[in-house]
Parts: sequence; structure tokens; C-alpha cells
Amino acid sequence: MIKRVLKCNKGLTGEITIPSDKSISHRAVMFSSLAKGECTVKNFSSGADCHSTLNLFKQLGVNIDFTDEKTLKIKSEGTLIPGSNNIYSCGNSGTTMRLVSGILAGQNFDSTLTGDESLSKRPMKRVIEPLTLMGAKIESTDSHAPLYIKGQPLHGINYSSKLSSAQVKSCILLAGLNAEGETVFTEPYVSRNHTELMLDYLGADIKVDGNSVTISSSELEAKDIYVVGDISSAAFFIVAGLIVPNSDFVIKNVGFNSTRSGIIDVVRRMNGNVEILNERIVSGELCADIRVKYTEFLKSCTIEGEDIPRLIDELPVIAVLASQAEGETVVKDAQDLRNKESDRIKCLTDELRKIGVDIEEREDGFIIDGKKRLKGGSELESYHDHRLAMSFYVAGLVSENEIAINGFEWTKISFPEFEQLMEKLS
Ligand code: S3P
Repeated sequence: MIKRVLKCNKGLTGEITIPSDKSISHRAVMFSSLAKGECTVKNFSSGADCHSTLNLFKQLGVNIDFTDEKTLKIKSEGTLIPGSNNIYSCGNSGTTMRLVSGILAGQNFDSTLTGDESLSKRPMKRVIEPLTLMGAKIESTDSHAPLYIKGQPLHGINYSSKLSSAQVKSCILLAGLNAEGETVFTEPYVSRNHTELMLDYLGADIKVDGNSVTISSSELEAKDIYVVGDISSAAFFIVAGLIVPNSDFVIKNVGFNSTRSGIIDVVRRMNGNVEILNERIVSGELCADIRVKYTEFLKSCTIEGEDIPRLIDELPVIAVLASQAEGETVVKDAQDLRNKESDRIKCLTDELRKIGVDIEEREDGFIIDGKKRLKGGSELESYHDHRLAMSFYVAGLVSENEIAINGFEWTKISFPEFEQLMEKLS
């Protein structure tokens, strides 16, 4: 589907409520499926990725029903039962494949995890390697999906990861939840910690010490979970509000976990006008409302090191923000962006250049010389990548001429409500 976007001349105003966090929604279904008993998950994501997780756990014998559009009732015996053919599709969702491989590796049955074309190209060595050290038996072609998992008893490990990845960390912690002995996972910088927070909330034996997490075999309690809004979805609106002249609006119910709020720190470094209102804790997660105002004089900044895991999914739209800031914005230490739903460094560089962004590709990031006029007038390819499609939409709001985005329907992966909410502010 081709989406055409016109320059926004009158500013974005009003109020929106940001829908459910994708990372927390996945974990709510997975962890509640491992807990014996009944619980409710409120404000579950309507994105296709989270539905891949939901369908997979239904196939594994868990009772999951919608009681309304966004509320799930989950009833589980606390044990998983193999589905009819033992093949489970993860769709486009890396989070589903990587986390579920940690759950299935220690079961007393075999499973196969499959993915769509994009997911089948993404690296799985990062989970196969540490799981194998725990005693798992996983076969694949060159560490790519499909993953053939032969269920085995697992034992704990002490693992230092080279990557700061919440998907790898969560996979190993979930394997450790069902392994003999203690599992310790250490990463260079702290990646998103929703797994640690939710496992602790559900009663697991888990301890966090700086960049290390220790877990031992535990039974989880079934408890109700309310999923806060997704800061990665809010990011498109934050950037749009800062760069579209005359904008002033409030984004309600945004998850504000400090391992996810790197974009707010960057916006502040760039002189962006954002105000954090009404901070509160919801089901163990910090949540807030954000007021965003157009900022005429944005300045460039450097984004690197420990910033990266705290804003990894926001980098494509941060590139759009940097295109409107005075000076050179440098993004480095972000080589894992090449392993997302697309090679986000290459695809972003190729496409943003077409509309006049002065962007240079680097192995581990990019450099943008901002405050150049965006001419627009081109068709941009989304490469089946939801976050690229939405970032290009935001760029279209400040481009002189109409832009077209090919593959806009991929926004359904994380944020089917995106366009409707954008229209509400227009
Ligand atoms: C996610 C972690 C991140 C992120 C992805 C969701 C998660 O990946 O990019 O969209 O829910 O754990 P990595 O942990 O591999 O960086």
C-alpha cells in the first residue's frame, strides 16, 4: 500500500492516548502462560507482533480469550502442552522468536519456531549460543529460523554477553527460570528491563545488580497486569510535535521506564520543548503524560554508548529530528540497527537522502548535517519495516512536496492506530 503524506502547515494540536507497549504486551502473555492460575491483562497491544505471541501460547495449550478489544483473560495450568504439529509461527516478531526459544528449550517436548521472510534473515546465534551452553539442543541453518528445538533439561550458566540486548537477556532468564542451579546474565549496558520487573512482580527468584541479573528456577504467580503505553510509538509524535511549526499537544499514558526513555534525554540535549507530567507507577512500570511543543531552535547532539539500548527503536525517527536541528548529529555504537526488521542504517540513509536529508552512512550508525530544506517529492521504500514507514511519514510532515511511502501497511506490526492518532492531532 502506498501512503501519500503532505506537508502539515497548521500544526498538530489536541490530546492523544498512546496505545499499549509492545515489549510489555509480549511478556504479559508469555509470563502469565507460565504461571498457574487465572489473570487479566488489560490494555494489550493490537499490533500483529503481540498477536503472534498470543496465538503461539494458545497453540501451547494456554486458555487465552479476549473479554473486550484490549483485555485478555489468561488461564494456565503453569505447564505448556505441545501443539498438534509442534510448529509455531513467530510471524515478523524477533521478540517472540528469541524469548520463546528460551522457554521451549527446557520443555519435555520438541518444537519448531518459524518466521516470515524478514525474521528468517535475522541472526539467532545470539540466543542459540548461550542456550547451547545451558544444555539446549537447537538446530538451524546457519543460525537462522526455522529453529528446531529438542526439549532438554537445562542447567544454569554465568554468561557475559557482548551485546546489550533485552531479547537475548530475556531469553536466557526465561531458560534460567526452568534450569537447575543459578543463571547469571551480564551485559555491557543495561537494556530494557521489563522482563526483570515483571518476573519480580510475579514472584520469581530474581535479583538485579548493576548490569547483571541472577535468576533461579521459580514458580510464577498469576497476577493481573495493566500494560502502559509504548514510548517507542510515542516517539513518532514527540518528533512530529517538535518539528511541525505551531504544534502543541499532550500524549497520555506513556511508559517511562528509565531503560526506555533515552529519547527524552536526547530531545532535552537537542533543546526540544517537552514537559513530563503526572508521573505514576502502573503494574510496576513508571508511566507519564508528555506535553510536546514545536521548537524552532533544535541543536545537534552525539548519541552513543549507553544511550543506544535506551533508544534503539527510536533511532530512525531521531534521524528525522536531527534533520531539523542545527549542526551535525552523530549516532555511533548502533551497529545492531543493521539486524532489525531491515538494515536500518542502510535503508534509512538511502531513503532519507532521496528527500534531501544530508545523511552519511557509518558502519555503526550515521551522521546528519541538519537544518537543510527537505524537498520531498519522492517515493520512499519502507522495506517491510514498520518503524521506517512511520519515520518517513513524520519526515513527510515537514517536506516541501508530497512524499509517498511504499509498504505503509507494515505499520500494523506495532502500531495499527498510528495514522488515526496523527489525524486526530491534525
Ligand atoms: C525488544 C528489545 C529490542 C528492541 C525490540 C524489542 C524486547 O531488541 O529492538 O524491538 O522487547 O525485548 P534487542 O534487545 O535485540 O536490542
